Amino acid sequence: MVIVISNMDRFNHLVGTDVLTYSWLIESNAMVAVGELVVVTDEISGLRYFARVTTIIHDTKTGGFQVIALPIGSVGPDGSFRKPRTIPPLLSPVRQLKPDEYRLLKTFMGELEIGYMMSGNQTITDLPVGIPSAALPQHLGIFATTGMGKSNLMKVFCASAISARKAGILITDPHGEYALGEPGNASSRGLLHHPKAQEGLAVFTIRDRKDSDVYQMKSLWISHNDLSIADLGLVFDQTSGQQEIINLLLPFQTNQIIEFFVNEEVDKLPSHLKTTAYIGNHQEIAQRVRSGSADALRLVQRQISTLLDLTSRFVNPDRSSLPDIISSLDAGKVVLIDIPGISDAAELFILSAITRAIFKRKQHLFIEQGSAGKSGTVLICIEEAQRVLSQRSEKTGIFREIAMEGRKFGLGLGVITQQPKNIDKRVLAQMNTLFIMGLADRQDREIVATSAKHDLRVLDTEIQTLDRGDVIISTVGIPFPVSCHIHYFEDYLKNF
Ligand SMILES: Nc1ncnc2c1ncn2[C@@H]1O[C@H](COP(=O)(O)OP(=O)(O)OP(=O)(O)O)[C@@H](O)[C@H]1O
Ligand SMILES: [Mg+2]
Repeated sequence: MVIVISNMDRFNHLVGTDVLTYSWLIESNAMVAVGELVVVTDEISGLRYFARVTTIIHDTKTGGFQVIALPIGSVGPDGSFRKPRTIPPLLSPVRQLKPDEYRLLKTFMGELEIGYMMSGNQTITDLPVGIPSAALPQHLGIFATTGMGKSNLMKVFCASAISARKAGILITDPHGEYALGEPGNASSRGLLHHPKAQEGLAVFTIRDRKDSDVYQMKSLWISHNDLSIADLGLVFDQTSGQQEIINLLLPFQTNQIIEFFVNEEVDKLPSHLKTTAYIGNHQEIAQRVRSGSADALRLVQRQISTLLDLTSRFVNPDRSSLPDIISSLDAGKVVLIDIPGISDAAELFILSAITRAIFKRKQHLFIEQGSAGKSGTVLICIEEAQRVLSQRSEKTGIFREIAMEGRKFGLGLGVITQQPKNIDKRVLAQMNTLFIMGLADRQDREIVATSAKHDLRVLDTEIQTLDRGDVIISTVGIPFPVSCHIHYFEDYLKNF
């Protein structure tokens, strides 16, 4: 059968189709943009096929444009949404979405709102985009080049979480920008300005009392026993000699180890070559490490004292905020660890300590009570996550364990990075929610596009054209990738 295409049908009617690509022509004066959503109607079956524009090219025959689109799903007459396994007939009409179709897409959205859906260049204010909190234990990745709006996104996400109280979220902030807004910028706002901050936010800070009291921030305390000697490997490169010493020390409590290294002269330790006896207070530790090399022992000692110096404002022998932090997370609050000006090494060391405590508790609850006894969902966010989730396994510690195992305890990781290519592929493969923002590096884009649950490679043009505050979200809870413009935090706060 030969289909004769009249002039009227030439434009806005499907001409080339397979299950993965739709194509139609438009007139040269018709406006269409990459990322735009369209509906193709099968006029016989009544099925509506949703698709998003991925490419536009010149059509030399008509002088118009050929539009290529990616099918995202079909809706039957009963309103049920299916993956696109069938195709609409040739010459089916292509049109923009109608209001009831936006309402249909809205049913997929979760309670943690972050922005409005984008269709091409249009922001659809009838269609707020939200992540379902049930997706959080399956880990979340946020990828963006510097300045593209990661911090704004985190603030908006936390603002929604403060209000929704569906999950506990832990974030650490070494720049001091989340609690009260960007320092030195009077119009910038922080999470403490949220009208529901009293109920839904707990801030633990190292700021002076006079600053913290005004906003009822709590002082952050980390006790020696909250720390783990194994985390030295997270922040310092280790020789095999040091690694050996750290392994020997693992059975001891950290406060004992710290006392030993802080109070003893390592040089006075009897080595297996010396015959002198050790006369300090830590016989067992001394006995255990005496086979280690003196150089390695000295290095371990120096690293411990460096870390204690860097964290002397809040690391102490006994006081600990961890029980309070954990109960706030269990209560579905956002917990902000406000540590302005702290060094990179110290931040990682305490984030690891807090993370380990949360993991242990969740694991304990799981073993005691089984999955039915799961306390609420908790998401632990790590900025510059390539520091701790790179291919080098000795640098990954507790974070890798959560990426691999956390899901069954209701514990997820929020991995924030500018360099997804430097994150361990096995960890990336565990992430079921991806936020892709402007990424300048092609290799980074490819890695992300291929690890998403929806294959995003066809969206490469769109990903390349993302502006500041734009994001493409691929998540298990929503059956298609979503383009979204993130709310501007200072404006979004007015909604609560
Ligand atoms: N959705 C948005 N709407 C309006 N302005 C935004 C949006 N997102 C970010 N901005 C503005 O862009 C600037 C950079 O954003 P932000 O600090 O969130 O970027 P970033 O990715 O965290 O950068 P960095 O890598 O430096 O930490 C800020 O001034 C912020 O207010
Ligand atoms: Mg930032």
